[in-house]
Amino acid sequence: MSAVSNTVREPAIEVTGLRKTYPAGDSVVEAVKGIDLRVEAGQTYGFLGPNGAGKSTTIEMLCTIRNPTSGTARVAGFDVVRQRSQVRRRIGLVFQQQTLDLQLSAEQNLRFHAELYGLSRPEADRRIAEVLDMVALTDRRTDRVDKFSGGMKRRLEIARGLVHAPQVLFLDEPTIGLDPQTRAAIWDHLTWLRDNTDITVFVTTHYMDEAEHCDRIAIMDHGEIVVEDTPEALKSSVGTDRIALRTDDDELAIARVRERLGVEAGMHEGQVTLAVAEGAAVVPRLFTELGVGIRSVTVTRPSLDDVFLTYTGRTIRDSEGPSAPSHPFAGRR
Ligand SMILES: Nc1ncnc2c1ncn2[C@@H]1O[C@H](COP(=O)(O)OP(=O)(O)OP(=O)(O)O)[C@@H](O)[C@H]1O
Ligand SMILES: [Mg+2]
Repeated sequence: MSAVSNTVREPAIEVTGLRKTYPAGDSVVEAVKGIDLRVEAGQTYGFLGPNGAGKSTTIEMLCTIRNPTSGTARVAGFDVVRQRSQVRRRIGLVFQQQTLDLQLSAEQNLRFHAELYGLSRPEADRRIAEVLDMVALTDRRTDRVDKFSGGMKRRLEIARGLVHAPQVLFLDEPTIGLDPQTRAAIWDHLTWLRDNTDITVFVTTHYMDEAEHCDRIAIMDHGEIVVEDTPEALKSSVGTDRIALRTDDDELAIARVRERLGVEAGMHEGQVTLAVAEGAAVVPRLFTELGVGIRSVTVTRPSLDDVFLTYTGRTIRDSEGPSAPSHPFAGRR
């Protein structure tokens, strides 16, 4: 893959006031409501939101498939409207819908794509071997794709998105409908890319747990970005870690926690329980400073589900399905 440059690189994706409306009878649907976004080169960026949030519409504008109604977007340094072909040469795209040719073999699907992008025969051979190896499909390369499982097809689509060595890879719901093991395998491939190449990955999902793999995430809801940060910062922003301890002397432990850590602790479900901002940093101090035998420690962190609930007023599962009502206590709109 391309070498990392020493100079300060411009952002891989830069979006200002990006908006998209669709006609809907006499009125319009505002699918994307003027979003701003900046994705640094080399990052894995998660774009999260429930059905209908506007994720695919955003990706389609960034990939030059749809024109924005207003606003601007630059991808790999080029404008998605005025420099469409420059953008297209530098991006890979895995669509939300499956788009492989099922009658062809895995290798033929990749070769067709390599030819579209004008790769020479030796270059195509080399890249096809590399990407098949990356998604662990080398031994299935001559099999027809209609014999593949859902997860194998998805891995092949990722490989295809990478054949022409793009600077930015867009993946729209790469793991939707897959079993947990296959989802994990796909994230292994994406993590490998992050660790071993300087490609920028922009991935949409509505699985909150997957966002943990991303350097930064944006949560989109009703066409707007409601919050954007690192997964860690977002979790810290919604609350604290909870530490639960089993000790040899609970009363003494509670007194020492108060005295030495300056934190109030109490008994909950038979355990000494305290709330702290950074649980992992406090646990070692409990062992050195309490002077009480500790038999077990559990640290519970706020999850990204808690983040979603806090910023949108409902859980992402409440929001699934076109007719799902929003949470009665949704506060934001
Ligand atoms: N071609 C279209 N014509 C009219 N409305 C559309 C079109 N595509 C999307 N929409 C509407 O725009 C809104 C955003 O849709 P979009 O597909 O971008 O959401 P999404 O976040 O990708 O959802 P999902 O998780 O279901 O894929 C929805 O209200 C949808 O009905
Ligand atoms: Mg979508």
